[in-house]
Amino acid sequence: MPYDPTNPLAARAAEILRDNDTGALVKAAPSLYPHQWSWDAALVSIGLGHIDLDRAIAELRHLFRGQWRNGLIPHIQYDANATAAAYFPDAERWASRYVSPDAPQDVATSGIVQPPVHAFAVRQLIGLASLEQGTEIAREFFRPLMNWHRYLHSARDPENSGLITIVHPWESGMDNSPRWDSAMARIEVPKDDLPPYTRRDLAHVSDPSQRPTNEDYDRYIWILEVLKRSRYRVDVGYDQLPFRVKDVFFTALLVAGNESLMHIASIAGADLEDMDIIEEWIALGRRGLTARWDDATGRCLDYDVVSDTEIDVDTIASISPIFAGQVSRGVRQAIIDRWQSSALTGHPDLRWKLPPSTSLDAPQFNTTRYWRGPVWPVINWLTWHAWQRNGEFALADELREQALAQIAASGFYEYMNPVTGEGMGSDAQSWTAAAVLDWLAE
Ligand code: SER
Repeated sequence: MPYDPTNPLAARAAEILRDNDTGALVKAAPSLYPHQWSWDAALVSIGLGHIDLDRAIAELRHLFRGQWRNGLIPHIQYDANATAAAYFPDAERWASRYVSPDAPQDVATSGIVQPPVHAFAVRQLIGLASLEQGTEIAREFFRPLMNWHRYLHSARDPENSGLITIVHPWESGMDNSPRWDSAMARIEVPKDDLPPYTRRDLAHVSDPSQRPTNEDYDRYIWILEVLKRSRYRVDVGYDQLPFRVKDVFFTALLVAGNESLMHIASIAGADLEDMDIIEEWIALGRRGLTARWDDATGRCLDYDVVSDTEIDVDTIASISPIFAGQVSRGVRQAIIDRWQSSALTGHPDLRWKLPPSTSLDAPQFNTTRYWRGPVWPVINWLTWHAWQRNGEFALADELREQALAQIAASGFYEYMNPVTGEGMGSDAQSWTAAAVLDWLAE
């Protein structure tokens, strides 16, 4: 359904996407994120689909220009027209096209990934298209998506566990979540070997306490350096990489992505052989998530490959299996209980009944710092889709209503203080606008 321009919230959302559109790509945010980010772009395309389907397809097409020969979709594709000083790390720091023969030579990209919501986005766009155009979309994107998922199931899961290994916290999308604290604390940054750098992000937020700390940044940039020196060959240097975590949220989104890919495959008329592979990936991913489920506490937990330990922290990722869907009755009920408990949406101090990125009761909880507590509209949006896919329509409706009320009151921010409701990070964040358009189109 197209968006309703007489609805002021929808009209503002459409205006944000227009303003952030350079003509070639939609910036993830006007100044804090002035390039095309991978999972942002996929989700933004769904918002664009409600305004102009051709523009939405063009956004994905632009993103796939940056895909590497080995299937990797880089987490940033740099806007050639933006100044290098607009964002750090810039394309020069990654130097992906100079160090990796897999990277495209004509497009500047980063060398790591982000959560695989791309097949989901393509499926949503097919749902907005005519039968004929839907088939064209499926045919255009099936093979690149297949290559992307194959990269994740091979280079990022050499153990064949079904669980995907992230090699940099940025790959999780939840950069400084306490989920990564213990793995990060272990990493010693050799200061004399870390090329100097200047953070750019702090200039774009009203208060530096809304962003990750300098200690975190040193480690982010050091891991980047290690990956670059291994020419981004995660498959070759795997055992030496300093940060290796089986991310349950990333994995759950990949299971959902594979289900979307199966749908796309059938519309595109793909080979049975390809469909068998996708089916195996889905089963493998579900088995992996089941292995990470802790029955005693009703949470799904990440796993630190380097230290061979479970990561026991209370964050939104604990409900990850619901994003993959098809969970057992017991797991579903445990996730619903957790969702409604004070760990997530039931805490009495919350301004709205929306899930904080880190539980208010967790010792690491922080009202303002990036993924350590704030509420993220994008997570509300993905969870809303997950509740719907799982047939939990009352939960989905309540979530949508609360999430829209939050944005109407706080603005189109990247994230919000869960207690005061104050908007933080970037204003006019593209995927927040896309979420609103998707919610209001229903
Ligand atoms: N999310 C990261 C940032 O804040 C990197 O992708 O810049």
